[in-house]
Amino acid sequence: MNRLEVLHFPDKRLRKIAEPVKKVDNEIKNIIEQMFFTMYEEKGIGLAATQVNIHKRIIVIDVSENKDKKIFLINPEIISLSDDIDTMEEGCLSVPGFYETVSRPKTVKVSSLNYDGKQIEIEANGLLSTCIQHEIDHLNGKLFVDHISSLKRSRIEKKITKLKKEGAVPSRKSTPNYKSAI
Ligand code: NI
Repeated sequence: MNRLEVLHFPDKRLRKIAEPVKKVDNEIKNIIEQMFFTMYEEKGIGLAATQVNIHKRIIVIDVSENKDKKIFLINPEIISLSDDIDTMEEGCLSVPGFYETVSRPKTVKVSSLNYDGKQIEIEANGLLSTCIQHEIDHLNGKLFVDHISSLKRSRIEKKITKLKKEGAVPSRKSTPNYKSAI
């Protein structure tokens, strides 16, 4: 299994809008498996295809403690969002080493295709809800840093650009107690 390369902010490819999956075939299932592999290797709890430079509407998530509850979404569409707001500290595999507080609707209801290409619905709250909304943002070319002030965003951009130049972007593999990122 190949670990896919995760793109880092401010890479412009993270701004591409992903295309809907036309058919859930073996190619798509293969992409999903590689995305799960990459997400677990990177110690992430969620990954959108956009982050690995595959511009298809696919998301993988596992927010379970034992890393044994795989959730994938194909062509996810938000059906409804609650008025209640949840505020959480978010991190992102594409913005390594940075965490900021983001407010989002507490509950989300989404539709997705399953492995048989049939439409299903998922309702989520708490961390899973945050994760789903964060990943759908990725498919639309949006990052969690777009939810914070432009001053903070440009500071993060400058720091990551500098670290990349020095070849010193924090490696998640070498830091076992790294906080969750999506
Ligand atoms: Ni992310």
